[in-house]
Amino acid sequence: MQNPQCVVILDFGAQYTQLIARRVRECGVFSVVLPNNTELSEIRAYEPHGLILSGGPSCVLNADAPRCDPRIYELGVPILGICYGMQLTAILLGGQAGSCSLREYGRVRVTVDKRDSGLLEGLDEQSYCWMSHTYQVLALPEGFESIAHTDGCPIAAMADDKRRVYGVQFHPEVTHTEQGRLILDNFLKKICGLKGDWNMEAYAEREILRIREKVGDGTVLLGLSGGVDSAVAAALLYRAVGKRLTCVYVDHGFMRAGESDQVVEVFTKTFPVKLVHVDASKQFFADLQGVIEPEEKRKIIGRDFVDVFKREAQKLGALDHFAQGTIYPDVIESGSAKGSAVIKSHHNVGGLPKELGFESLVEPLRMLFKDEVRKLGLTLGLPESLVFRQPFPGPGLAIRVIGELTPDKVRIVRESDQILRDEIAGAGLDRSISQYFTVLTGARSVGVMGDERTYAFAVAIRAVTTDDFMTADVAQIPYTLLNHIAGRIVGEVKGVNRVLYDITTKPPASIEWE
Ligand code: XMP
Repeated sequence: MQNPQCVVILDFGAQYTQLIARRVRECGVFSVVLPNNTELSEIRAYEPHGLILSGGPSCVLNADAPRCDPRIYELGVPILGICYGMQLTAILLGGQAGSCSLREYGRVRVTVDKRDSGLLEGLDEQSYCWMSHTYQVLALPEGFESIAHTDGCPIAAMADDKRRVYGVQFHPEVTHTEQGRLILDNFLKKICGLKGDWNMEAYAEREILRIREKVGDGTVLLGLSGGVDSAVAAALLYRAVGKRLTCVYVDHGFMRAGESDQVVEVFTKTFPVKLVHVDASKQFFADLQGVIEPEEKRKIIGRDFVDVFKREAQKLGALDHFAQGTIYPDVIESGSAKGSAVIKSHHNVGGLPKELGFESLVEPLRMLFKDEVRKLGLTLGLPESLVFRQPFPGPGLAIRVIGELTPDKVRIVRESDQILRDEIAGAGLDRSISQYFTVLTGARSVGVMGDERTYAFAVAIRAVTTDDFMTADVAQIPYTLLNHIAGRIVGEVKGVNRVLYDITTKPPASIEWE
């Protein structure tokens, strides 16, 4: 099968490497990230129309600094080096790099000296870019010219238009570089000659063909977790192999209100796969009896999940292939962009394929970022309410009950969470708050309801805004709305007489309570 037009990004360890891949894709060009020391033959196999060398934290002058095969410059494919990638290009092609006399970090004004053609065509004479470097190119290799400078960096960008090799010392992939998008677009469209027509329809069509090629007339097993990734993978696989796809949905009893029903509805009606819906809540509750410690809860849930899944898979008899919804950040972060299978630990199905003797592992989302997975889901016809589900921990509501789990406590979290979700959506805040949910705190306190004394649970509301879930701010929900939500929760959810609002950022707190 023909590869899509693509750009290969060689990763030298920068924190921005994934961002380069995303920006390239936003320009409508498929991109893959490979480790810096990838064999030339493997790079060639992608038939790249361009190469981008990322930045990196190392000093390019050190003997053990990461390198790439210097023969990439003989491939005849345009190359753009960013920061470390630029310095390495200069050195490998006979130039020099070394320490800056003036280190530059952050927003820096860059002056473009050549903007009539090539990489910097159409840029303003001056604009701001994002710099973060201790080293820079000091002497250009033969054939190169300097095309931009800053106060502290005489060669802020370099070009060899004949060989089509370029370098920028700043980071065009970050939004602080005002015209970074234009630079990448110039590289991709004007220099690499790419059309920029990569989109989700094209991805879906190609993946469907690839799945068919791999699976032949065999059968496929996929574990639905109730989350977005496995649902999108299932929809895609259904398009590829239809009824030869069997999905096992293990309901541990800790899903949010309505979510299990929606999974069952979608995968019996819109995508009528062979669906095995296992209600295993009894086993989970029994095994969790008396358990208070959160990590122990997680372990038990993980173990039970594997047990139940395995049992169901064995009941189904031999299926040929095993599919899962691994996505690109997991592949890159695990450092295994070179090929080996990655199984997310929270998927709780790690190790299954081998044990159950599957012929192969099918991971059709392996090359997609989360927002691309969502786009693909919509393209395939999954409902928005499923595609835009909030992130949800594998162990589900179980880790939102502090202390011992009982069906009644899970009911309290589920009902209060439903009220919170209704109200946030009703106020039109559901897309601006990244994650919001309720927690059954372990605390019980005295209250009065009517003329009765109560001694009941306190429920906490957690609502945060964040881009990456590594750090988070507290969402600013209007007090009138909070009051209203609190009133509804206390009034409608039996067993609750107090509502708290968690106003702690992450760090120091985490998003989940556990
Ligand atoms: P914390 O609580 O660590 O959570 O600040 C960060 C984000 O990760 C989600 N989370 C999980 N997601 N499996 C997942 O897929 C898990 O086991 C898990 N635990 C936490 C959490 O909801 C938040 O979005």
